[in-house]
Amino acid sequence: MQRRDFIKVSGAAGLAGMTFPNIILASKTKKMTLALIGTGWWGMNILREAMAEGSSKIVALCDPDRKAMETAAEEVQKLSGDKAKLYTDYRELLKKEKPDIVIIATPDHWHALQGIESLKAGCHIYLEKPISHTIDEGKALVAASEKYGKKIQVGLHRHISPHNMSGIDFLRSGKAGKIGFVRAFVHYGGSGRRAAPPSEVPSHLDWNMWCGPAPLLPFSNDIHPRGFRNYMDYTTGMVGDWGVHWFDQILWWSEDKHPKRVFSTGNQFFKGGPGDAPDFQTAVFEFEEFTVNWEHRRFAANESEKHSIGVYFYGTEGVFHLGWQDGWTFYPAKKDSQIIHQKPSLGMPDHQNIKELWADFIQAIRNNQKPVADIVNSQYATNMSLLAVLSMQAGRSIEWNGEKQEIVGDAEATRRMRRDYRSPWIYPDASNI
Ligand SMILES: NC(=O)c1ccc[n+]([C@@H]2O[C@H](COP(=O)([O-])OP(=O)(O)OC[C@H]3O[C@@H](n4cnc5c(N)ncnc54)[C@H](O)[C@@H]3O)[C@@H](O)[C@H]2O)c1
Repeated sequence: MQRRDFIKVSGAAGLAGMTFPNIILASKTKKMTLALIGTGWWGMNILREAMAEGSSKIVALCDPDRKAMETAAEEVQKLSGDKAKLYTDYRELLKKEKPDIVIIATPDHWHALQGIESLKAGCHIYLEKPISHTIDEGKALVAASEKYGKKIQVGLHRHISPHNMSGIDFLRSGKAGKIGFVRAFVHYGGSGRRAAPPSEVPSHLDWNMWCGPAPLLPFSNDIHPRGFRNYMDYTTGMVGDWGVHWFDQILWWSEDKHPKRVFSTGNQFFKGGPGDAPDFQTAVFEFEEFTVNWEHRRFAANESEKHSIGVYFYGTEGVFHLGWQDGWTFYPAKKDSQIIHQKPSLGMPDHQNIKELWADFIQAIRNNQKPVADIVNSQYATNMSLLAVLSMQAGRSIEWNGEKQEIVGDAEATRRMRRDYRSPWIYPDASNI
């Protein structure tokens, strides 16, 4: 029943004549208002699934890049009939529209701040990973989610991918034996492209708003569109972009929350950029009963080792590879045993499971349940990425008290859990949300 029909019914029969379940049904099926903040590649992938699912009406889009936003608005109108209002400043959007739901698919340096402001405006959030750019921002976002009590689904769609779910079941059943070492990795081939020189800011882009609380670097086509992943001021590196998906899976399998110690090193093999993000990084995370290794390379993809992306779980009964487009595969230790393989079931474009994650999010809102990729578990996965970045930048290992979310005995490393914001943006404080 649509809201209009509900009003007609209640007008004709009178509220006194209605039973309570009728009212609940009406509120459950009413369309929710939805806004998208960040109309780039992934934001539009999410919005298309939201439009197809049909529970929401798109009321607004926001992007400091007007060209990207206008193209998005045309597509929205064509696909859903909704005529979205356009904003370049998300604060204005939140104040004027007060949407029921926002999707946040901006570069990493915006996630926590826009998340907190959206919670304060009363919105449920589909928030892209990693949840924050620094550890202290993540703490503030989690504090805000506790205070405002809205649902947050983090875009860790592998948490609901069919082959990932059956893979975790397989591991938990003990069929791979006792697992002492886990190796997560993403290797892409690359060519060492050199950085493009800074250029004039295009007239359709509000560059100051794009950079927001982060440093205002000279504009370059290497940064926008789609190049923010090369610049540590705006990204968290490959360990925050891809690693966080695998850390989420590892914590899900182990039911652990925090490593005790982290060491990471990385560098640019191809000097000269673009940007300053490492093109290889490795990190070691010590847990109570197992150790996790992370590796990324943007040169020399790894066909020689069969899989270029995924996580190997090394168990006493064999090696289990949890992958992406290659599903999962178990290589038993016993020579005469059969290899077991599970194909993936992924949505298009870009081989993902946003559709399932969106459906779970809507169900969580409607039924007041915890979404499958909730903010707290996603914070633990994000912290693994951010601790790896922090250790790499500090140049030493970090002892981590996960329960207190504190670095132990290292004041200089502790300072790196936050960074200065550019004026007038104010760094969010977990103790004063
Ligand atoms: N879950 C996944 O598998 C997955 C996959 C890809 C990307 N992502 C995430 O999605 C996010 C966006 O990545 P992308 O590849 O779509 O980048 P993109 O550059 O294509 O899109 C980001 C958009 O955000 C806009 N933007 C910048 N500042 C803004 C602001 N203040 N307000 C509103 N919009 C702003 C940019 O102009 C751009 O249009 C990243 O955090 C990335 O980690 C997740």
